[in-house]
Amino acid sequence: MPLAEAKVSIEDRGFQFGDGIYEVIRTYGGRPFSLEAHLARLDRSATALALTQPYSRAEWTDYILEGIKRADYPEAKIYLQITRGVAPRDHAYSDEATPTVVMTVREFHPLDRSVQATGVDAMTTEDIRWGRCDIKSLNLLANVLARQKVKQAQVFEAILVNAGLVTEGAISNVMVVQGETVVTAPEGPRILSGVTRGIVLDLALSEGLSIQERFVSQPDLYEANEVFLTGTTVEVLAVIRIDGKVIGDGRPGPIAQRLAASFTSRVG
Ligand code: PDD
Repeated sequence: MPLAEAKVSIEDRGFQFGDGIYEVIRTYGGRPFSLEAHLARLDRSATALALTQPYSRAEWTDYILEGIKRADYPEAKIYLQITRGVAPRDHAYSDEATPTVVMTVREFHPLDRSVQATGVDAMTTEDIRWGRCDIKSLNLLANVLARQKVKQAQVFEAILVNAGLVTEGAISNVMVVQGETVVTAPEGPRILSGVTRGIVLDLALSEGLSIQERFVSQPDLYEANEVFLTGTTVEVLAVIRIDGKVIGDGRPGPIAQRLAASFTSRVG
């Protein structure tokens, strides 16, 4: 239906409490990328919150393919959201509510290639999120505040630091290159297990690089040979400055460039 005709009740628990989950998927060549991995994560988020998953993966796949076809954009960004449904406001929930499901299909404009070529600036900010960042929940207030700082500082991304350790970006995962080793925060409650993160780690291994899943300190971040972001919307994107401090030699490094190229051939 047209966007303006889509309505949600003011008693929807997504609106009242942010009680719900979401996924963001993009297309390459008009086809959804890594759909299975996104739908698997949607299932994990639903299970973690005891939220009824209204559709099977096969049903989701049908709806998504249909949405892409009807929207008919060159490339699309598909947003899926499931909330616990409509009920009078009470923090505790009953199992009876029917989940509210929203799917939007919008045109996706990939990052300009020149941004990829020059790399981006980032800033650090305190990671004030809750203890289950592995769930792709609608509660994005900490990310909202971090992204607002990004906008004010006119940089590209906020790198979140929890008790001195780098967790991830506000909308991306963060990878650090130390020598020939790609280091990134381990899967667990402190980060979202990015679909792109998983693919890039596999690519790094198949390129003969070593990988380590462990936290890096903020001082080590500044001292890294290279830093790059991964994510559905950013792909593999080199960070050349953080908090005004130059990373490496201030240009996208060889490993970030190699992984960006292999990611591009992978999606192709
Ligand atoms: N965000 N970490 C966070 C906090 C994220 O919000 C995202 C993606 C990622 C990267 O995950 P993936 O590779 O699966 O896209 C990591 C989406 C795009 C969003 O919230 O709009």
